[in-house]
Amino acid sequence: MANDSGETDLWLFGYGSLIWKPPPHYDLRVPGYIEGYVRRFWQASEDHRGTPEAPGRVVTLIAREHWETLTDHHASAPPKVWGAAYRIPSTHVAEVKEYLDIREINGYSIQYTPFTPANQSTLPTLSSKPSNGNPISQGLITHPPPHPSPSSSSSSSPPSAQINCLVYIGLPNNPQFLGPQNPQLLAEHIAQSQGPSGLNSEYLYQLEKALDALSEESGDEHVWDLARRCREVERGEKGKVEKGEVERNGV
Ligand code: BEZ
Repeated sequence: MANDSGETDLWLFGYGSLIWKPPPHYDLRVPGYIEGYVRRFWQASEDHRGTPEAPGRVVTLIAREHWETLTDHHASAPPKVWGAAYRIPSTHVAEVKEYLDIREINGYSIQYTPFTPANQSTLPTLSSKPSNGNPISQGLITHPPPHPSPSSSSSSSPPSAQINCLVYIGLPNNPQFLGPQNPQLLAEHIAQSQGPSGLNSEYLYQLEKALDALSEESGDEHVWDLARRCREVERGEKGKVEKGEVERNGV
């Protein structure tokens, strides 16, 4: 909906920490997915789960077409990237964007992509508006989408059950993008990293838990495998990867 100044609501898709740590001032949270991307822990974090001296590792999205040209130890990836979309009322869009720029910037840039809600059959159940820190609304999508978005002017408009969402992506040309990682080394790195927002391992475990809670099909093998390896490292079951294994893996 547009306000008096012509500003419209903003839909924001979260595939990482935004799933369990919502932005301020949203009035609707919708579990669902986007397509055409692969989620990977290939982004260095100097500001949240690491420091400039010892960057941690967080997720970014890689365009599937590009990912298919790469050699990834996790050789398969689900066709859907599950996450949560938040509707930000027009009156708070500027404030939320400013908050997100502070919170998320570190190589991430703004893109727009169609989002599909998990449950399309239920009409909106707008719960009372949560403000900062209040429980997440499990209300469902307005249908059709409340407003056009930058990409909806293209010749192939998304079906009405999709919403164009803003999404923050660390593109391959950003300085924090790392590219394919050896899973064992990556898990060991996560196990030993921390930053102003806390332990890097906590970010990984929170993501695993939040994804599993979204839907029966929203689990992500890449995240599960890293979490399993990270727990092993923390239990002391595996130390540094044996040199031979690293060389065999080519990383
Ligand atoms: C996300 O949850 O979508 C996200 C969080 C931090 C940076 C980029 C994306």
